[in-house]
Amino acid sequence: MVNHPTKKIFQFKTVVLSIVLLLNLSLFAQDAALSADALAGEALFKANCTSCHAMNSKQLGPALQGVHTRRSDEWLVKWIRNNEALRASGDKDAIAIFNEYGGAAMNNFENLTEAQVGTIITYFKEWTPPAPKAVVTDGAPQEVNFYSQTTLYILLFLIVVLTILLLVLRKTKNSLKQSVSEIEDEKEEESAPSAFKTKFEYYKKRTNPTIFKMAVGSIVLGGLAAYGFYFGVTEIGVQQGYAPEQPIKYSHKLHAGELGIDCKYCHSTVDKSKQASVPSVNTCMNCHKGVQLRDKYNGEISPEIKKIYAAMDYDPDKAAGEQYGNNPKPIRWIRIHNLPDHAFFNHSMHTSAGVSCQTCHGPIQEMEVVQQYSTLQMGWCINCHRERNIDVENNPYYEKLHAKIKAEKDDKNSSYAKYFTKDGKIDIKPANNGALECSKCHY
Ligand code: HEC
Ligand code: HEC
Ligand code: HEC
Ligand code: HEC
Ligand code: HEC
Ligand code: HEC
Repeated sequence: MVNHPTKKIFQFKTVVLSIVLLLNLSLFAQDAALSADALAGEALFKANCTSCHAMNSKQLGPALQGVHTRRSDEWLVKWIRNNEALRASGDKDAIAIFNEYGGAAMNNFENLTEAQVGTIITYFKEWTPPAPKAVVTDGAPQEVNFYSQTTLYILLFLIVVLTILLLVLRKTKNSLKQSVSEIEDEKEEESAPSAFKTKFEYYKKRTNPTIFKMAVGSIVLGGLAAYGFYFGVTEIGVQQGYAPEQPIKYSHKLHAGELGIDCKYCHSTVDKSKQASVPSVNTCMNCHKGVQLRDKYNGEISPEIKKIYAAMDYDPDKAAGEQYGNNPKPIRWIRIHNLPDHAFFNHSMHTSAGVSCQTCHGPIQEMEVVQQYSTLQMGWCINCHRERNIDVENNPYYEKLHAKIKAEKDDKNSSYAKYFTKDGKIDIKPANNGALECSKCHY
């Protein structure tokens, strides 16, 4: 029985290609979410409308997310093609929105056919908000989302392993067939050859083909596993750039940046204890009992602020004294920074030494969604302990140390003598003060 070689190759290729295709499809599925009509509409929208409109934010014109739920399709077609005529016809909604936007006139788009405007409306209907992007901050390579990168690596790894597995299986099958026919001519000459290639051929011939293939296969798989292990040790667990979506769209950019609220107003334990702690909902209520943003949501309370009320089981519309129910559900913030249990870190030690939050956490006040700015790896801690000066002079925490160093300044035998620079200033780093000892950071 002869198995046609091209046919086999074809089957093999088909399998590999389908795997790759499936993976691609799942990776890029998001792009395929819009229908053909909506894609045409998107193109028209980008060409004609984005100078004044965005889907999810107010520009010169209103945000158009969900506009199809506010207006009928018929109204939208009329408005988009000739809003002037619609207003002239006395349409109340048209006049109201025109007045709301201070009489800023939108162009007429009579050059677009009704069908074309229809595709734009389809686009509005199918549009979904983009996934929040990781915040890009200066200096460090922050754009990479750890999870998507890891997933990609794992997928690539799987492709390679599966491909090799297929290759090995295919070859095994072939050689099993071959060996049946070769069993007859076993009596060939068997002189031990020298060159590697011939040696390889020699052992290949002498060994049972199946076992030989399996041996080669395991060597390759072993190599890959070793790489996987190395990857796991060095990469997994490092969550730099990690920025999960939180249960409430709380923004540091707004609160700590634009409103200028002090970090310690919310992270109140950061100066006193090991933990910086995330604030309880009560802290939010100090302001959000009053700040409901009803004007932004057509008289309704902001849906995000409603979540704060739900967490407190608070109903502002009830009579005073009855507003708080007895079924509060604390907000489950997703923890971002997390050292392994064997490492010890203390905030107050660092803030009292004058290290700013931003040195370690990056420009939090510019982040819409908090992301992990530093690696939090051991090397990161150690580097700073080697490089940063301790301000022993102006820090009450170091009063004793400072006095001792000063007293021994002129004593050449003092262990502190070496910490004076030529111009008599103290140059001492955490490393000189024991901050490189394993036991300081490890339980
Ligand atoms: C020159 C700026 C400008 C351009 C270009 C523009 N618009 Fe507008 N649009 C506005 C303004 C301003 C309003 C608010 C009403 C007003 O003042 O007339 C508006 C309102 C709307 C509304 C009503 C929203 C609501 O909440 O009822 C829709 C729908 C709309 N535009 C769609 C479009 C589409 C689709 C395009 C592109 C084909 C477009 N606009 C191009 C400025 C613009
Ligand atoms: C109005 C209250 C408030 C203020 C002000 C505030 N934060 Fe936060 N912070 C929070 C809340 C709530 C969370 C948890 C939700 C989140 O991660 O966005 C948080 C989370 C964090 C985290 C991540 C915690 C984790 O899970 O690892 C860091 C780091 C942080 N804040 C630093 C700061 C810094 C630095 C400032 C000042 C520039 C600041 N915060 C100001 C309320 C606040
Ligand atoms: C010191 C006052 C203050 C504190 C404390 C505060 N906020 Fe705010 N917050 C505001 C103000 C003011 C706004 C509205 C800004 C604007 O005009 O858009 C706001 C807006 C918001 C919004 C945006 C709502 C929307 O729909 O646009 C969310 C969500 C929010 N806060 C969540 C929180 C959470 C959660 C906490 C507690 C961790 C908190 N805030 C603590 C003052 C505060
Ligand atoms: C020397 C670096 C450093 C500085 C400075 C620093 N942090 Fe942190 N922060 C960390 C590390 C490391 C963690 C993770 C701690 C853990 O997992 O035990 C963390 C965790 C946090 C958390 C999560 C909750 C917690 O307590 O573990 C918050 C919130 C936070 N920091 C806020 C702040 C604020 C606000 C400041 C400034 C007042 C600040 N940090 C200054 C390194 C720092
Ligand atoms: C940006 C600089 C910086 C980073 C990053 C940093 N530290 Fe520090 N660390 C300091 C300074 C400054 C001191 C104060 C000097 C002192 O107390 O000896 C200090 C002191 C300490 C001490 C007290 C040492 C002693 O002698 O008592 C410990 C423990 C410590 N750090 C742990 C950590 C750990 C764990 C990390 C990483 C997760 C870390 N630090 C990251 C700057 C840093
Ligand atoms: C300044 C603080 C600090 C000092 C000093 C320190 N470590 Fe670490 N070490 C850490 C932190 C933080 C981690 C967690 C790193 C991570 O999660 O990637 C860690 C992780 C480790 C790990 C786990 C492997 C890894 O990379 O995750 C080992 C093992 C370790 N340290 C051994 C030591 C030994 C031995 C010493 C003394 C020579 C020492 N450490 C001194 C902070 C420190």
